[in-house]
Amino acid sequence: MPKTIRYRVFENPDSAAAQVAGEIAQLIRERALLDRQVVLGLATGRSPLPLYEELIYQHREERLSFSNVVTFNLDEYTGVGRNDPASFHTFMRKNFFDHVDIPARQIHFLSGTTPPAKIAAHCEAYEDLIEKHGGIDYQILGIGRSGHVGFNEPGSSIVSRTRLVELGEITRNDAARDFGDSLENVPTHALTMGCGTIMEAKRIALLAWGSAKASVVRRAIQGRVSSKVCASYLQKHEAACFYLDSPAASLLKVEK
Ligand code: F6R
Repeated sequence: MPKTIRYRVFENPDSAAAQVAGEIAQLIRERALLDRQVVLGLATGRSPLPLYEELIYQHREERLSFSNVVTFNLDEYTGVGRNDPASFHTFMRKNFFDHVDIPARQIHFLSGTTPPAKIAAHCEAYEDLIEKHGGIDYQILGIGRSGHVGFNEPGSSIVSRTRLVELGEITRNDAARDFGDSLENVPTHALTMGCGTIMEAKRIALLAWGSAKASVVRRAIQGRVSSKVCASYLQKHEAACFYLDSPAASLLKVEK
């Protein structure tokens, strides 16, 4: 039987983010002492924003250096260039990379403008690069209302790898706010790390805030492990934890 995913409920997103940032900072400092790198898997979206703010604060005020950090972002929309205002590249630069000292050569993204004929090789090269760096030490995730992690929409297999995917209706509707509130402008496809790729991370922190996530959070943590809610696969991960605020945790059944 799968175990229940570990979860922690915080008063607000900022206090949860401070906890996760503290864990990441500790890992960065421990590795720095050994002259070793840390590999972080990063997400975009609303959920990780307080975490990035806290990490930037620690960089500025507590001299946390990211010089030994290597990053791999989870996903990118197809057809969206890296300098497009709606790209995940732009999001990450604006909300994190421009404010810390990660050397540019240590920052990795899937490219949304890869020509179709080269997508399979591009995705495979991304996987190889993660492996070459020794795998992801600490993966940050959000959760979509469709239950997706990365852009692994319902139906994605637990062993899926980095690939081209079609975005579902719920996901595209939620993304419209980043594309001038027009569904028409939202890409239909994306490149994403697979569920199998994500499951290989040594530690995983999934962040979810607000009542709009309460139902999917309950299904992920206390429902059956199923491709209908890909985040439920995390029940099978040894070191995955959900960091929630009270509204996101409000539908969890108290275990006796
Ligand atoms: C983003 C990503 C997505 C988001 C998810 C939640 O890189 O991979 O899985 O984490 O859609 O988005 P927010 O945090 O905006 O609710």
